Amino acid sequence: MPTVLVEHLSRTYRSGSTELIALDDLSLTLEAGEIFGFIGPNGAGKTTTIRILSTLLQPTSGRAVVCGHDVSLEPSMVRRSIGYMPDFFGVYDDIKVWEYLDFFAAAYKIPRHSRESVISGVLDLTDLTVKKDAYVESLSRGMKQRLCLAKTLIHDPAVLLLDEPASGLDPRARVEIRELLKELQSMGKTILVSSHILPEMEEFCTRIGIIERGKLLVQGKVDEIIKSKQGSMKFLLRVVEDLEKARDVLARIPLVTVESPGTQDRTAEPNSISIMYAGEAGSEYQLLNSLINAGVKVLSFYAPPSDLEDIFMAVTTGAVN
Ligand SMILES: Nc1ncnc2c1ncn2[C@@H]1O[C@H](COP(=O)(O)OP(=O)(O)OP(=O)(O)O)[C@@H](O)[C@H]1O
Ligand SMILES: [Mg+2]
Repeated sequence: MPTVLVEHLSRTYRSGSTELIALDDLSLTLEAGEIFGFIGPNGAGKTTTIRILSTLLQPTSGRAVVCGHDVSLEPSMVRRSIGYMPDFFGVYDDIKVWEYLDFFAAAYKIPRHSRESVISGVLDLTDLTVKKDAYVESLSRGMKQRLCLAKTLIHDPAVLLLDEPASGLDPRARVEIRELLKELQSMGKTILVSSHILPEMEEFCTRIGIIERGKLLVQGKVDEIIKSKQGSMKFLLRVVEDLEKARDVLARIPLVTVESPGTQDRTAEPNSISIMYAGEAGSEYQLLNSLINAGVKVLSFYAPPSDLEDIFMAVTTGAVN
C-alpha cells in the first residue's frame, strides 16, 4: 500500500445557501520516500487536501489513508505518523525558540530526559541552533518558517505534509528550504509539499500533481508529464564550437528534431540550438552521450524551465471557484 493514498476525495464548503466544491473526486498516491509536489493556483484545494490528510478537516466523501490508517477512522494513529506544517504561522508572544519546541515535544509525549537531545537535533537540522534562546516573535519570516518545520519534525514523523513551506521567502531561503527537504528525503521521510510555482519544484520533486478547482489534472514525473502534454521534450544545447557537427550527430538519432536556424529564437545564445526529442522520458541521456562520444564540446544540455510554465499554463485554465 502507498504511504499516502487519497481516493475519490471530495469536500464541499457550505456557507448559507451556497455550496462550494473545494475538492472534486481527487485521487493521488505517494510512495514511501517520495517528495510529491502538489501544485496549483490560489483556491485550487491544496490546503483543503492537506488539512484532510492532517485529520483537521473531514472529507465530504471519499477516503484518505496515511501509513495504513484511515484519516476519518483512526485520526490519532495518523497524527502520530505525520508532521503538518500549516501555510500560516500562528502568533506566539513571550516564548523562546527552545520553549516553543519543548512545548510541542511535551505535547507529543516525548520523555523529559530525551527532549533536550531531540530539540537540539531539530534545531541543528533547521540551522536554528544560534537562535535557541531568541524570542519567537523576534525571528525573521524565513527563520519562523524553519522553526515551524523544526516543530513538525519533533516526533520524527514518517510523513511530512508541508503547506507552502517556502512562501514569502527570499531566493536564498527558498533554496535552503529545498535543501532541507532533500535532506529529509534522504532520511527516509515521505513528503507532500504544496506550491504555486511549478519550475521551482521540478528539480527536487520525485513526482508532481497539478490541481485546479478541486480536480487533479495530472500527476506523474515532471518529464513524463511534459512529454505527454507536448509529445516531445525540449532541450537546449550549447557548444564551445562546431555547431554543425552537433547537428550532424543529432540528425542521425531517431526521434530527434533539431530546430532549424530560421526558426531559432533571436535572443538565443550563440553556438546553441534547441532539440525536440520524442523518445522515452529518461532516455534523453543518449543524446548527450552521442554528442560527447562524437567529440562535440558540450557546454550545457538542459530542459529549459519555461517549458514547465508552458505546461502549467496549458494544463490549468486560470478559472477560479
Ligand atoms: N473554511 C472555508 N469555508 C468556505 N470555503 C472555503 C473554506 N476554506 C477554503 N474554502 C474554499 O475552498 C477552495 C479551496 O481552498 P484552499 O484553501 O484549499 O485552496 P489552496 O489551493 O490552498 O489555495 P491557496 O493557494 O490560495 O492557498 C477555495 O475556493 C476556498 O475559497
Ligand atoms: Mg492554501
